Amino acid sequence: MSESLRPGDIFNEEDSNTSNNPAFESVLEARMSRRGLLKAGAGAAGAAALASTVTQAQAAHAPKSPINGLKFKAVEKHTVDQVVVPEGYTARVIYALGDPLSGNVASFNNDGTDGNFEMRAGDHHDGIDWFGLDAKGNPSWTFNSRGLLAMNHEATTDEKLSSHFLHADGGTRSLPRPASEIDKELMIHGISVVEVQSDGKAWAYKQDSSFNRRVTTMSEAEMHGPARGSEHLVTRFDADGIRVRGTLNNCGTGKTPWGTLVSGEENWFGYFFRDAKDDERRGLKDPSVAALKRYGRKAGEASRHGWESGGMQDRFVRWNNSLLGVTARDDYRNEMNTFGYVVELDPYNPTQALRKRSALGRMGHENATFAVATAGQPIVAYMGDDARGEYIYKFVSDAKWDPKDANAKDRLAAGDKYLNKGTLYVAKFNADGTGEWLELSLRNPVLAKFEGFPFKTEADVAVFTRIAADAVGATKMDRPEWGGVNPKNGEVYITLTNNSNRSASNVDAANPRAYVDMKGTKEQKGNVNGHIVRMAEAKPADVNFKWDIFLFASEAGADKSTVNLSNLTEDNDLSSPDGLVFSKATGLCWIQTDDGAFTDKTNCMLMAAVPGQVGDGKAHTIAYGDKTVTTYAGKEQTAATMKRFLVGPKGAEITGICETPDGRALFINIQHPGENTKAADVSNPAKYESVWPSNAGYGAGRRPRSATVVITKNDGGVIGS
Ligand code: FEO
Ligand code: CA
Ligand code: CA
Repeated sequence: MSESLRPGDIFNEEDSNTSNNPAFESVLEARMSRRGLLKAGAGAAGAAALASTVTQAQAAHAPKSPINGLKFKAVEKHTVDQVVVPEGYTARVIYALGDPLSGNVASFNNDGTDGNFEMRAGDHHDGIDWFGLDAKGNPSWTFNSRGLLAMNHEATTDEKLSSHFLHADGGTRSLPRPASEIDKELMIHGISVVEVQSDGKAWAYKQDSSFNRRVTTMSEAEMHGPARGSEHLVTRFDADGIRVRGTLNNCGTGKTPWGTLVSGEENWFGYFFRDAKDDERRGLKDPSVAALKRYGRKAGEASRHGWESGGMQDRFVRWNNSLLGVTARDDYRNEMNTFGYVVELDPYNPTQALRKRSALGRMGHENATFAVATAGQPIVAYMGDDARGEYIYKFVSDAKWDPKDANAKDRLAAGDKYLNKGTLYVAKFNADGTGEWLELSLRNPVLAKFEGFPFKTEADVAVFTRIAADAVGATKMDRPEWGGVNPKNGEVYITLTNNSNRSASNVDAANPRAYVDMKGTKEQKGNVNGHIVRMAEAKPADVNFKWDIFLFASEAGADKSTVNLSNLTEDNDLSSPDGLVFSKATGLCWIQTDDGAFTDKTNCMLMAAVPGQVGDGKAHTIAYGDKTVTTYAGKEQTAATMKRFLVGPKGAEITGICETPDGRALFINIQHPGENTKAADVSNPAKYESVWPSNAGYGAGRRPRSATVVITKNDGGVIGS
């Protein structure tokens, strides 16, 4: 799918999973189990029977304002440079790259001359969550007109090393890069917390709120969970392997039942440099060499921005992951091991350092989504590892949920309680519509006896999770992105955005499509448009599940027996689902796209869907030559169950979504508008791919900016009604 690759996509195209886990095995299994199933008379009907049990077991959290059928008029696909929402709705920009987060910081010039990014909105707004405040400024689960938005700033729009819109002349696109440019770029990554409020007419962010905060690549953080103090985390910065610096490539978010933000570190590996001789110095058989390859960094690979080239100061040297000194205390050979975690932050406490929760594993984390917390039951979180052929994970806490912790005074201490000790699992999807969660710990004999990598401690499993998942035989998926839990019945949805490596030779029941789609005259191959898998467990902590495919993303005109299995139309066709969040207010499933395959016809979008349940559709068998694969599709979509709600500006991804508790304000992020603009054209707005949001009347300058948009209904109603 290289034709449709955009600059930022290259990192997700990483496929370092050379394990033998994949699909060929599953195809054989598919044939055998289908025979077994036919004999037993089970199949999709069996899945449906189990699903109804599940629904009964977990139907405890009905939405306050349920929407069971979509009535708004679908937004048409478009390629204009604007955000468009349905008639009767308004979308307004409230917080964009560079906006000041303190009364002392100047407004944003947006011409490459601005500084002070440690107290400005970062770049590439991504996952976002709402943290309510009452009128007195105390944390509130119910207040609707004042709150904090905590959001990720995943990356920056770049071309050949430089984040060109951040520098007046487009910056330096060769090595070494000047320290002054790198210092800006170090500060535009991370997380921001910003206070927003509505006066009943319009929403705005509050520039001088004492809650406003930036976390950057330089902010101190602490490692928690099994990896705390591990030999693999020893660096020149901390010989004890506990203190670490910064968070990076924060992609999806989640809100914990105790009111904190969790944020997934995704494409961090691309930011590190390793010199060509590093493997030899480590020793070719040293486990660290295998681990670095499995996490996407071969010796001799250049870093995305060349931050290691800024000088001898520690803040530059740390991005060189090569073995350079005598021991790990002398260099940053282990610095990459300090990234790749779910990090937890308390948005209500601007001075508390964030905590890296290593019990949830190390990978290209997207988001972490929590099962409905039930008193006396473990806390459960579901996660995707976004690269081609990576896996779906879940974490089950040792501690049992105490509802009093929803209002804990020390929220990160509650995080310690639930997220530092527990069991990590990885998903295996069977061809008969069932699945298993495989334990990733030394209690699992497969891992304890594994000869391919020395897993000696639980810390080793926490730091080298991908290798552990390979060892136990997890199912390689089509780039797992966001997960969401349907509050009504507890079912888990995970987007699988696309996979150019999926082919007839490795399709399986849960990743069953490999086809050709045209983008203009260009052929795109694999699972071009992505799908959404859905799992039902009798209880969130169970190790067995049933699954089906909630949605096959597709163009409306694609073949209905092999590609458009969800029967999508012009009003709801989409490509590359990525963000996925359930509304607690309405029960709607919001789906966002980060696409490069359908962009000849439409910019990226936000869809609203009415979820059904596992087993509500039927089995489909797809033939690949003399081989067949049977999958289980959810119910076909209709105008009542799925509609396009928003289409964004040019060159942008739609990502991150949260709402006020009453469901009357929806906040979404627009990431990297105009990202295909050439660095050489930064001084010529006429050549920009996008000039949003300046063309929507927001802010100074014409350079495109990632931004938060608030959507309200003109009659004050619930969003989606
Ligand atoms: Fe940051 Fe996988 O999207
Ligand atoms: Ca196409
Ligand atoms: Ca994403």
